[in-house]
Amino acid sequence: MRMVDLIAKKRDGETLSTKQIEDFVQAYTAGQIPDYQASAFAMAVYFQGMDEQESAALTKAMAASGDQLDLSRIAGTKVDKHSTGGVGDKTTFILSPIVAAAGVPVAKLSGRGLGHTGGTIDKLEAFPGFETELDEDTFINLVNKHKIAIAGQSGNLTPADKKLYALRDVTATVNAMPLIASSIMSKKIAAGSDAIVLDVKVGSGAFMTNLPAAKELAQTMVNIGNELDRRTVAVISDMDQPLGRMVGNTLEVKEAIDVLQGKGPEDIHRLSVRLAAHMLVLGGKAKDVETGEVLANDLIRDGRALNVFRDFIANQGADSSLVDHPERLVQASNTVTVEAPASGYISSIDATDIGRAASMLGAGRMTKEDSIDHAVGVEMKAKVGEWVEKGDALVDLHANRDDVTEVASIIKESYQISDHAPENRPLIFQEML
Ligand code: URA
Repeated sequence: MRMVDLIAKKRDGETLSTKQIEDFVQAYTAGQIPDYQASAFAMAVYFQGMDEQESAALTKAMAASGDQLDLSRIAGTKVDKHSTGGVGDKTTFILSPIVAAAGVPVAKLSGRGLGHTGGTIDKLEAFPGFETELDEDTFINLVNKHKIAIAGQSGNLTPADKKLYALRDVTATVNAMPLIASSIMSKKIAAGSDAIVLDVKVGSGAFMTNLPAAKELAQTMVNIGNELDRRTVAVISDMDQPLGRMVGNTLEVKEAIDVLQGKGPEDIHRLSVRLAAHMLVLGGKAKDVETGEVLANDLIRDGRALNVFRDFIANQGADSSLVDHPERLVQASNTVTVEAPASGYISSIDATDIGRAASMLGAGRMTKEDSIDHAVGVEMKAKVGEWVEKGDALVDLHANRDDVTEVASIIKESYQISDHAPENRPLIFQEML
C-alpha cells in the first residue's frame, strides 16, 4: 500500500493490518518514508487511536527493527521491570537483588537519565569502575552464574522507535497513547525477558499526571505484552512527590542500600517489595503477591538480598566493600539547607521541580551530551503530610558549588505549606494483572 493511502486509512478511523504496519516501520527505519508522511501518520494515530492488534503489531515491528536480545541460553523465567519514569525512583536496586536471591533470573537492560528523571545506569556508575557495557556472552554468563546483570542498552535497540520518538517530539504527537505504549513495550520486547512488571507512575513528577491517563497507558501496555506472549502486569504507583528521601545518583544508591539493610523510608521499601512480589509470582517463586511480599521481606531481613547486591557490584567490576561503607562513595563538598518559609503541613511537593533542581545541581542531564556529577542531589527533609515549623529544613542540597540561589528558589516554590493536613494519597492506586 502506498504511504499516502495508509495515512488516509488511519485518518478515516479504519484499522490497519499487521502487514501494513510492518511495512511502514521497515520502510521508515530504512529511510524510505519521508518525515512529513511519518508525521502525518503519527497525527492520524493521535486522533484515531489504534486497537489492540494494531498496537501489538506496531510494538512487534519496532522491536524487530534493531538488535533483539536472545535470552534463551538463560534457564528459568526471565522477569523484567520497567518504570515509566519518576524522581527518586531507586526500586531497581532493591527489587533486582531480591528476586535474584529467590532464584528468578534478572537480565536487565537499562537507560540513562534525561531531563528531570534519573537513569539506572547513571546511578550504578556512582560505584567507581562499575561496568555497564557488557557484551552479550558476558551478560548471559553473569545471569546464569549469579542470577543478575544490568547493562546499558545497545545503540541499535529499537531504531524505529528512536526515529519515530524524535519525530513525535517535534510534531506534538508524543502524547498519543498507542504510540507511547508501543514505544515503551518495543524496548521491553527487544530486551528479551519472558515476563514484565510495569510500574506506571502517576502524579506531578510522572509522564502521566492524572489517574485515568495512567490507567489507560497501563492497560494498553498490559494488552500489548499479553498479545505478544509476554506475561505482563502493571502497578500504578504514586509520583506526586519524590519516592523516598533522596534524589541524585550516589544519594539514591545509599538509600537503596539502607532499604536492603532493612532500614530506609517506608514508601520506597513498600513499593519495591510489592513490585518484587509481582516478579516472584511471574517467575514461579510465589503462588500469589501476598506470599511474594512475605518472601521478599524475608530476603531483606536475613541479608540474602544484600549479599546478592554486593556480589552484583563486584561482578560488574566495582568495589563491593562500598556497599557496607557507602560513606566512601563520592560526596558533595557543600550541604545547603533550604528552610520552610512558614509553619504548617506540607500539602504538596512538585516532584518535577525537585527532579529539575537535582539536575541543575548536576545530578542529571539537560541534553544527551551532558556529563553528570554523581555526588550532588536533593535530600528531602520534609515530605507531604509532615508538619514543619518556620525555619525547619525542607531539603538539604548536596552541591559542588557555592551559589545555589536559583535551585533553592525552585525548591521553595515546589513546596506548598498549609494549615490543614492534606488527604492521604495512596502509594499504589491499582494493579492490572
Ligand atoms: N517513554 C518512552 O520510552 N516512549 C514514549 O513514547 C514515552 C515515554
